[in-house]
This record gives sequence, C-alpha cells and structure tokens, in this order.
Amino acid sequence: MGPPGSGKGTQGALLAKDLGIEHIAVGDLLRAEVDAGTSLGRQVAATMQAGDLISDDLITELMAPKVTKAAQNGGYILDGFPRTLMQAVSARQTADEFNVDADIVIWLDVSPQALIARLAGRAGEQGRADDTAETISRRLQVYEEATRPLLDYYQGRGLLATVDASGDTSDVHAAVMAAIGQRLPA
Ligand code: AP5
Ligand code: MG
Repeated sequence: MGPPGSGKGTQGALLAKDLGIEHIAVGDLLRAEVDAGTSLGRQVAATMQAGDLISDDLITELMAPKVTKAAQNGGYILDGFPRTLMQAVSARQTADEFNVDADIVIWLDVSPQALIARLAGRAGEQGRADDTAETISRRLQVYEEATRPLLDYYQGRGLLATVDASGDTSDVHAAVMAAIGQRLPA
C-alpha cells in the first residue's frame, strides 16, 4: 500500500521477481482494459482520468478471480488493492472462503513533495493519462480520504509494516525485504 508515486509498482515488480510469485497491480489491469477498449475499460476510463476510485463492486469483480487463482499458484503481491475499507472487508471474506490470509501489509511512506516530483517525472517519460498536475493532486486527496484509514485497519490486525520509501529504489527494496524477513522468518 502507499500513495500515488510511492513505488507500489516498482517495488511490487522487484518483490515478485525475488519471491517468484505473481504481482497483481489493479491499476495496470484497469489500464489494460482501457487500452483494449473492453466494456470494463470504457466504464472506467473517465473515472481514472479524473483520479477518482472505481466502484468497489467493479474492483472486487475484477480482482477476486485473479487473486484466488494466484493463491492456488503459490501466492501473490497485491499492488493498489484494497484501497477502501469495503474492499478490504470483502477481500477478507473471499480469503476466508479460500482459507488464505495476508502475511503482511507493507506501507510505503514517502513525503507528498517527493511523490509529486516522482509523478511529474513519470509524466514526462511515459505520458500516463492520470499523471497531469490536476489529476495527481486529486489522486493524493483520494488516497488521504479513502485509503489512509486502512492503515489503522491493518495495524489493528497486526499486519502493518511501515517502510521509509523515500530513498532510492534499491534501498527501498532492501527495507521491504527486511520487513518481510522480520515478520515471516524463513
Ligand atoms: P494505480 O495505477 O494503482 O495508481 P496510483 O495508486 O496512483 O499509483 P502509481 O501507479 O501512480 O504509483 P506507484 O505507487 O505504483 O509508484 P511507481 O512504482 O509507479 O491506480 C490508478 C487508478 O486506477 C486510480 O486512480 C483509480 O482510478 C483506479 N484504481 C486502482 N486501484 C483501485 C482500487 N483498488 N479501487 C478503486 N479504483 C482503483 O513509481 C512512480 C514513479 O516514481 C515512477 O516513475 C518510478 O520510476 C519512480 N520511482 C519509484 N520508486 C522510486 C524511488 N525509490 N526513488 C525515485 N523514484 C522512484
Ligand atoms: Mg502503480
């Protein structure tokens, strides 16, 4: 978990490689639907462009089969999901049905100034549709309102590990691996 630009995608990909499990990034899945022009893609494009959240029902419908399949294949790293309390509760229900649970929730902590600089940098490199100044600001606001409260939820469940994600990519990766090592001794 972490705000826009905190490194969820970057760290998720590195972890997936190190741990040999699937990286399920909900934003990437949604952008693929938009690019392919599917019915789901057409439904979500404008909301994503505005920096608002897609409805919990659509997200749960998209994620549940992917996560349960990955669970059967040895595990997964979720990137960008859950993002609301309702998504977290419904994910837990599905996990209970399949007798699986999260091992750890990693929160990538970065200052708002650094986030904005990273996303502005990516806007120049990749031209992602939601990396405009206006939408970045909205995404940060949505994160504060809808997603930050989940930190208390996961803290309460004893799953939360906070990682300082303001350093360079390899330092953050080392800190993430250390947090995993502490919680899940080999
Ligand atoms: P999503 O694609 O998940 O976007 P996001 O949360 O805004 O986060 P980003 O992907 O922009 O950042 P990131 O944390 O992955 O950082 P990254 O590694 O790329 O979601 C997009 C939209 O989809 C949402 O706005 C919403 O509309 C919808 N959506 C998604 N999930 C949803 C859900 N669960 N419910 C409802 N709607 C949902 O890094 C960013 C940049 O920084 C890159 O250029 C990278 O190279 C650079 N960088 C990374 N790490 C470092 C570092 N350590 N130092 C310097 N630069 C770094
Ligand atoms: Mg991402």
